[in-house]
Amino acid sequence: MYSEKVMDHFNNPRNVGELENPSGVGTVGNAKCGDIMRIYLDIDNLGVIQDAKFKTFGCGAAVATSSMATELVKGKTVQEALTVTNKTVMEALDGLPPVKVHCSLLAEEAIHAALWDYAKKHGIEITGLKPPVSDVDEREELLFRHPPK
Ligand code: FES
Repeated sequence: MYSEKVMDHFNNPRNVGELENPSGVGTVGNAKCGDIMRIYLDIDNLGVIQDAKFKTFGCGAAVATSSMATELVKGKTVQEALTVTNKTVMEALDGLPPVKVHCSLLAEEAIHAALWDYAKKHGIEITGLKPPVSDVDEREELLFRHPPK
């Protein structure tokens, strides 16, 4: 049901963790399944993404898509990072079952939310970037500070 690449990124997720003093952070959630994803970006003064990390409280596909999304945005400019959509992430993972497509959407939204945060903090505009669509509430924020054991 899952491709080898999905299983690989689920079993050995890349870029798990957080960044100290990130240039941008994006946290998004899906109200239906309750999964939450946070992505941290380190962006240099030329607007190139030097590092990306993630934390995901969610399903295996959410872990695999965050892992792949962080891999794909590294080395890209903030403008180029916008081309990393859920479709790109799914293709890079050799596909996802239809019921798991929304998990890849969460990865796209988390990247966009982190870029939005970066743009806001630096007073810049990223052409085509829209405000985050699904920001999580305070209760969910607490999960990141006190993750379930
Ligand atoms: Fe919701 Fe995967 S089931 S993100």
